[in-house]
Amino acid sequence: MKKVLLPETDLPERWYNILPDLPEPPAPYLHPATMQPLGPADLAPIFPQAIIAQEVSQERWIQIPDQVRDIYKIWRPTPLYRAERLEKALDTSARIYFKYEGGSPAGSHKPNTAVAQAYYNAQEGVKRLTTETGAGQWGSALALAGTFFGLEVTVYMVRVSYEQKPYRRALMETWGATVYASPTDRTNSGRAILARDADSPGSLGIAISEAVEDAATRDDSKYALGSVVNHVLLHQTVIGQEARKQMELAGDYPDVVIGCVGGGSNFAGLAYPFMADRLSGERPETRFIAAEPAACPTLTRGVYGYDFGDTAGVGPVVRMHTLGHNFVPDPIHAGGLRYHGDAPSLCLLVQHGLVEARAYAQNQCFAEALRFARTEGFLPAPEPSHALRAVTEEAAAAREAGDNRVILFGLCGHGHFDMSAYDAYLAGGLEDLDLPQSRIDQAIQELPTPVG
Ligand SMILES: Cc1ncc(COP(=O)(O)O)c(C=O)c1O
Repeated sequence: MKKVLLPETDLPERWYNILPDLPEPPAPYLHPATMQPLGPADLAPIFPQAIIAQEVSQERWIQIPDQVRDIYKIWRPTPLYRAERLEKALDTSARIYFKYEGGSPAGSHKPNTAVAQAYYNAQEGVKRLTTETGAGQWGSALALAGTFFGLEVTVYMVRVSYEQKPYRRALMETWGATVYASPTDRTNSGRAILARDADSPGSLGIAISEAVEDAATRDDSKYALGSVVNHVLLHQTVIGQEARKQMELAGDYPDVVIGCVGGGSNFAGLAYPFMADRLSGERPETRFIAAEPAACPTLTRGVYGYDFGDTAGVGPVVRMHTLGHNFVPDPIHAGGLRYHGDAPSLCLLVQHGLVEARAYAQNQCFAEALRFARTEGFLPAPEPSHALRAVTEEAAAAREAGDNRVILFGLCGHGHFDMSAYDAYLAGGLEDLDLPQSRIDQAIQELPTPVG
């Protein structure tokens, strides 16, 4: 068996919401101005009602609208592969499987939530969506979703990625979106950053501030977020639900589930349906590994506390692992992993020891991406190459222990728009910048203090 394909009839009908199953209730979001718990009305300027309801829902299962499922069917269910050629190359006794999300029109898992968010916004009469994008994957996904529902899309793209990936911008424009290199002089948040540093490479935190400010100051616009918040993770759980069924058909169950983490959405999408089995006591032994970049080591070196989700402090304040909202990560090629915080539910699971986090430098990840391309054929995006590094460690551990553990990882996107990164790596390696603790300490000192 090389791959397990599911028929369209097996496309999940519901999303899985982990909130009621978490070991403790998640901490409330706070208002950035008052630092008091935030109510649904506070989110109304930036999100449609249906999304706000999902964000705080305690329902374990949420029905996927038919119009969303119809669009999912363009590329879903996605295939699950057995990576036997990689197993051989790694000389491991482990069995390795991967779930491939790179076959969506935009090339990653991101359309799973983009389509849902565009649908709910269109239902409520919204005409225009604003967003940020790091690697360009999320911006592409929202641009795509905008075309399906007749929405105008404006994307603030982190400047370093805008320069590294001109074809991602062109792809967004092909789908009709307008793209700006962030920081821009179009918003107060952008102008404030540029006044301090005219050459700012940008960051996801800055681009979020710009996109939120843009949406909040226009009546026809709302904001769409590509990761971190509950409703985004919820929409991604189609990945893990399909994978659970596919693993069953393959006659296996994962001992370890691995994903890369930028804000946590592809990791959660794959892992949470399996985490549900662990939390219910049905599969208490399953392990979960979150792989992040050493240049932006949120889960491994950040503090757990309340912080602004964006640099200017215009969006909600959330409890998470954070490197501080002023932290600007070095311009590594995995642009989608350069976020200072992480999804609150994932952070809570890390705090409870249910998810283990590991951080890797980019050269070791590209080495794994190359090995993967040369064995399994698919060219990974730089982001999931971090997951591949963890896979290699687990494969080596299996060999040493003489066990045949089952490893499942998320290949959440292809790297066809990342060839300049591969080019640089092949030409002699990339820079692995050392991240001094003092840089993190400084950014963390500026965390806000909750009231009460
Ligand atoms: C291919 C890919 N993987 C991973 C990520 C990280 O986001 P998340 O942690 O929400 O999956 C991104 C974000 O842009 C991405 O484009």
